[in-house]
Amino acid sequence: MKSNYCGEITSSNLNEEVTICGWIHRRRDHGGVIFLDVRDIKGICQAVVNPDNQKSFQLAETIRNEFVVQISGIVRSRLEGTVNKNMHTGEIEIEVKNINILSKANTPVFPIDEYQEVNEDVRLKNRVLDLRRPEMNERIITRSKITSLVRNYLDKNGFHEIETPILTKATPEGARDYILPSRVQPGSFYALPQSPQLFKQLLMIGGLDKYYQIARCFRDEDLRADRQPEFTQIDIEASFIDQDEIIDISEKMIKKIFKEFCNEKLDKFEVIDWHKAMHEYGCDKPDLRIPLKLIEVSDLVKEEEFKVFSEPAKKLNSRVVALKVPNGNSLSRGQIDDYTKFVSKLGAKGLAYIKINDIDDFENGIQSPILKFLNNETVKNILENLEAETGDLIFFGAGSSTIVNLSMSSLIKKLGEDLNLYVTKWAPCWIINFPIFELNNEGNLTPLHHPFTLPKCSQKEILEKPEDAIAHAYDVVLNGYEIGGGSLRIYDKSMQQTIFDTLNITKEDAENKFGFLLRALSSGCPPHGGIAFGLDRIIMLVSDTTNIRDVIAFPKTQSATCLLTDAPSKVEKKQLEELKIKSILKEE
Ligand code: AMO
Ligand code: AMP
Repeated sequence: MKSNYCGEITSSNLNEEVTICGWIHRRRDHGGVIFLDVRDIKGICQAVVNPDNQKSFQLAETIRNEFVVQISGIVRSRLEGTVNKNMHTGEIEIEVKNINILSKANTPVFPIDEYQEVNEDVRLKNRVLDLRRPEMNERIITRSKITSLVRNYLDKNGFHEIETPILTKATPEGARDYILPSRVQPGSFYALPQSPQLFKQLLMIGGLDKYYQIARCFRDEDLRADRQPEFTQIDIEASFIDQDEIIDISEKMIKKIFKEFCNEKLDKFEVIDWHKAMHEYGCDKPDLRIPLKLIEVSDLVKEEEFKVFSEPAKKLNSRVVALKVPNGNSLSRGQIDDYTKFVSKLGAKGLAYIKINDIDDFENGIQSPILKFLNNETVKNILENLEAETGDLIFFGAGSSTIVNLSMSSLIKKLGEDLNLYVTKWAPCWIINFPIFELNNEGNLTPLHHPFTLPKCSQKEILEKPEDAIAHAYDVVLNGYEIGGGSLRIYDKSMQQTIFDTLNITKEDAENKFGFLLRALSSGCPPHGGIAFGLDRIIMLVSDTTNIRDVIAFPKTQSATCLLTDAPSKVEKKQLEELKIKSILKEE
């Protein structure tokens, strides 16, 4: 239908007859001559319709923005003074011979020919129009190119792309499952995979050696700006491989993506022990672009009468930390109040602070609402420990480690953003040595990753002190986002059984849920391990957006709805009857 892409016609095509197809980006009527900017995936090209071409001119008069047209004509140089150096096609125009309107369009809900801030719900409902906007178009194409780079890279490194089932059994990754009823086996359900975890392990036991998949995963969990209910992983697994080898191959892949798509040469990723990360940043996803760290002051304040500090300083699983913000004393009272509100929403009971107006004048140069509660010596010790200087502001968080860590790590990220404290553009790191288990809200042990992660200690040690067990597990964090995570896997049936026992999974339950894995583990299992990257998050970072929905063609909202198709939606009664399913919701 076309001889050239609109955006690719240049002076090298002068005097050629071309046919282009695309959307009318803009139509301008210049008293006697009509200009049509025609847009396709490669860009925009100007077509000129002269009134002496009567048929085309009459058609051009009826054309509106977003009509789809086929235009043929001769490529001419633009007149001097009308050349547009900012456009790839800005030196030429097409002198129209013939126009064919392929499809008409209603007036678009929002303009495509100029940038306009549009409410996201409106964008999602009108996604086809939104996808035509250049920034969206570009992101979706970048996504395709990144996927292709990943495939090439992994193919070259001997990995095989293998598909795994979508209609399957639950794979525990910490979220709820999406489940699907079976018609032929009424009362039974498939689960959509939270990840291909178990299948990739089975592939290793099946001798496939190196696997990857650009895999769709489904998780019913609370959504955030960097989470979708269905998302895509670059899922990788290999046999006879150790942690360093997996880290090496993964790091090279991420570096290649950033070199290719951001022209950035990432430095060697820092490697941080999980416990150190929790201690210094309060989280295992530190944004290392921000040069702020938590400093433990529990020991310095535990003998104080000020109970807000001394109680958590003495208590198990509690802590008191200080956060020094260089030049932070210019923050106003109002700003500090806002930060206090911010941490209180995350459970903190307050946000004590000290402003250092003059470090050499302890009497008058130190300003704080908690000075009256603390011994001067203690305050001096704290200042010395923190190497405080004139101009600093020191925040304090005290309480249960969970709340202090959550609130203070979030405060670091917020301060970084508000005060633009970033010292580098990209700060990747590996977090290693995760605990195998964590305590959930009910006080029960749950896997920090998933129950197939290989412990670094013996079965005996796990049974004795499960909370101390460390895993061969590793996450990749970039600018505060967890972009990937993986581990070596248990390849011994009795170790796997020990983990199930520790998690209080009964033999019967283990057999029901993971019998196929336990049997496979007894059939000759190679040591193996792998990793999965969040493809959407990587593309989000490469595309310089903080909204994961911007890099997914048809994403879902925070309430897991597709505004375009209105999914999820009610189904016909008959369909439910076939599935032997009855709703207990009251009819409206
Ligand atoms: P994990 O659960 O850490 O590991 O997932 C791997 C990566 O997937 C991305 N991710 C998400 N992205 C968008 N929306 C979500 N809801 C979402 N959830 C996770 C993150 C995360 O780092 N089977 C293991 C991997 C392994 O051990 O090999 C797994 O799924 O970037
Ligand atoms: P209060 O005794 O609650 O008035 O608090 C005295 C000071 O300590 C105030 O500046 C509070 O913001 C601060 N504060 C109270 N609780 C905490 C806490 N858990 N962590 C840090 N600062 C706190």
